Amino acid sequence: MKNNKFVQFKYINKHLFNTLRNIEKKNTFYANKEIPELKKFTLNCKKILDFKKNIRALIICLYPKSYKARKFSAQTVKKILEIMCEYAGDTLIQNSSKDKLIEVYDRDRKLSMHKGSRYHQTREGGSIHTDNVNIPNGWEYLMFGCLSSSKAGGETILVDSKTIHKELNLNFAEAKSILEKNFFWEKRGVADELYRAPILTYDKTNQPMFRYLRPYLEAAHMKANKKLTSKQLYALDVLDALLETSKFQFRYKMQKGDVLFNLDSKVLHGRTSFSDAYDALPLAKIKNKESRLKRTMIRVWIKNREKKN
Ligand SMILES: [Fe+2]
Repeated sequence: MKNNKFVQFKYINKHLFNTLRNIEKKNTFYANKEIPELKKFTLNCKKILDFKKNIRALIICLYPKSYKARKFSAQTVKKILEIMCEYAGDTLIQNSSKDKLIEVYDRDRKLSMHKGSRYHQTREGGSIHTDNVNIPNGWEYLMFGCLSSSKAGGETILVDSKTIHKELNLNFAEAKSILEKNFFWEKRGVADELYRAPILTYDKTNQPMFRYLRPYLEAAHMKANKKLTSKQLYALDVLDALLETSKFQFRYKMQKGDVLFNLDSKVLHGRTSFSDAYDALPLAKIKNKESRLKRTMIRVWIKNREKKN
């Protein structure tokens, strides 16, 4: 049986859908500073992640259940996502150009993470990871909205931190204790600096939290001139092997209007490799040729808003 109990699907209701459709028709997203119903829906989703003990990821569908008619445009999905993120918390800067909403799509078939590119710029699969790898301070939530799916492949893979932790505890105690010690990390795309942090840590209630993306970690160790020891390599190999075990994975091919909303350090994620259609275009170039859009996801990192006194 697939391990998918930590994921819950959520659909918006017809009323909220009609509200959003009307705003799309009138093209007034920018004027609509508040969409109270969307705010309520988003905060409710956040509550599920914060308080429902067994749920660590939501796949939100921006259509009512069983909806088969015309979908929102990619730009509308992006706008709705942006508004939802605003309601969920403070959005973080993700690169040196200070962007907070990052487009995840294949920039060029020749790019590779192993040659210095960032995961979100390539078509590569594998490397099940968390996003909290290139900024030392963590944040709580990842929001990841689909504007277009790929022609071939590109399934989203989710793995529950608790399941992996349990498996490490039961069968790989030595690997687990190595993962709890410091490794080097680089701040790829953000700053030319290194920092040290463990892969496996625990929150206040002793729940496991991961920080992991192997290619970034390996590159950081090279830069630091600190070769990974054979014991460290063993621990990383165990972790990768567990993350790639099918019974621990939940897979789902996201479609336009699906939004993944999850606890970043408590759900590891990745994708299978993909290919867009040969003549597919990035968002900035599609104009009204919506069907030619490449696999495009919008990624946002969200931190709980500091309470103002
Ligand atoms: Fe990611």
